Amino acid sequence: MFLSSCLSENSEGHLTIGGVDVPALAREYGTPLYIMDEDAIRSTCREYRKAMLRHYGKNFLVAFASKAFCTKYMYKILAEENMGADVVSGGELYTALKAGFPMNRVYFHGNNKTDDEIKLALSSGVGRFVADNTEELSRLNEIAAAEGCVADISFRIKPGVEAHTHEFIKTGQIDSKFGVALINDEAFDFAKTALGLKNIRLVGVHCHIGSQIFDIDPFVHAADLMIDFISRVKSELGYEIAELNLGGGFGIRYTEKDDPKQIDEIVKSFTSAVLKKVSENNIKPPFLVIEPGRSIVAPYGITVYTVGSVKHIKNIRTYVSIDGGMTDNPRYALYQSEYTAVLPERINEPATETVTIAGRCCESGDLIGKDMKIPPVKPNDLIAVLSTGAYNYSMASNYNRIPRPPVVTVSGGKSRLIVRRESYEDLIRNDI
Ligand code: LLP
Repeated sequence: MFLSSCLSENSEGHLTIGGVDVPALAREYGTPLYIMDEDAIRSTCREYRKAMLRHYGKNFLVAFASKAFCTKYMYKILAEENMGADVVSGGELYTALKAGFPMNRVYFHGNNKTDDEIKLALSSGVGRFVADNTEELSRLNEIAAAEGCVADISFRIKPGVEAHTHEFIKTGQIDSKFGVALINDEAFDFAKTALGLKNIRLVGVHCHIGSQIFDIDPFVHAADLMIDFISRVKSELGYEIAELNLGGGFGIRYTEKDDPKQIDEIVKSFTSAVLKKVSENNIKPPFLVIEPGRSIVAPYGITVYTVGSVKHIKNIRTYVSIDGGMTDNPRYALYQSEYTAVLPERINEPATETVTIAGRCCESGDLIGKDMKIPPVKPNDLIAVLSTGAYNYSMASNYNRIPRPPVVTVSGGKSRLIVRRESYEDLIRNDI
C-alpha cells in the first residue's frame, strides 16, 4: 500500500510517480529533486469542484492557497481547472499575474499588506482584498480613492474555534495575529466601518481556522458562527454579506498513522451546515469560497535525494546524510513534522533500519526526521521523502548558500521541468 494514490512500483522494483520511474528522473534531472504528479493535482482540483457542485450548487469557488506551492506553471494548471487562487504577498500575486492567471479569481490575503502591494493588486484587477485590520482598511480606502476605484473586500474573522493541530499552524483562535475577533464586537464594528467607506465595497467574510486538520467538527462550527455573523449584520445593519470564505486546512497523509477524510465527505459536512444555517436564519446561501492548499498538492509531490554518508553512533543512533535537508524541507525543523521515506531503487525491501535523516546545513536541527524506518542504505543510494508537494518548495531557502532544487512535473507518463535548479550565479545575482 502506497501512501499516495500517485505512487506505485514497476517491474524493476522501482518507485513510480504518475507511472514514471523515479530513479530514471533522478538520473535525468539530478538530486535533490522535487517531483509533482500534475495529473493527480488536476484530478484533486476536479474532486473539490465536483464535491462543491454536488453538495452546494454552482455558487462557489475553490481557490488554491498558493502559499502551499507557488510557481507559474501551477497557476497555469489552476487556470485550466477553473480554480481561483489565494495569494498572500506581492510576490505570489506577481507570479499569478505573469502566468496570465485570471486576476478576478484571486483573493489577496495578508495581515500586513504594504501600500505597494495594495497598489499592484488594485492595478492588476485582483478579485478580492481580504482585509485583516482597520488600519489596512483605511489605507486601502485611501489608495483606492487615489486610484479612482472601489475595492471589493472580504475581511478575516477569528471565529474562536479550536482546531486540533500544531500550535504554529492554528489560526482561528482569538490569540492570533490574523484578522478581527468575533467576540467583543470587533468583527461587527469592522463591518460597520467598512460599510461607511466610499471606496470599499463589503462583499464577504473570511475565516481560516488552521492547517492539517483531520476533524470535521471545527469547520462545521466555524461555518455556523460565520453564518450567525452574516445574519447579525443583516438584521442590525440592514446589509446582506454575499460571500463566505471558509479558508482551507484539510489534513493529508504524511505517514501511515494519518487518516484524513475524503474530500467529498468534508465538503458535504460544511456545505450542509451552511445550507441548514442559512435556511434557519432566513438569509440567502452565500457565494461559498474555500481555500485548500496542502490537500491539493502535498500528497502528489515527492523529494528525491542521494545519500552521502551513513554514520552509526554505537548505541545512540544512525545518521543518514542526504544532499538536501532543511533548505528544501524546513518542516521538521519548524514543526517536528513526520514524514515517510522510501528507497526508490528498492521499493520492496523491508524497512528494517531506524535512522535519522540529516541534511547538509551547519545546523544540528537540520533533519528530515528522527527515527525513521527505512531499509539498509549506503552512500549513493536514492532516498525519496513522500508527501512533500506542499510547503516544501514554497518554504525552501538558500541558507548556507545552498541552491534550491528544480521542480519537475509528470503527466501522461512524461516529465517536464517547471522550475530550473538554482545555480551559484543565481545565488549572487543581487549581491553588489
Ligand atoms: N487560507 C488561508 C487564509 C491560509 O492562511 C491558509 C494556510 C490556507 C488557506 C491553506 O491551508 P491548507 O489547506 O494548506 O492547510 N507552513 C505550514 C502551513 C501554514 C499554513 C498557513 N495558512 C506547514 O508547512 O504546515
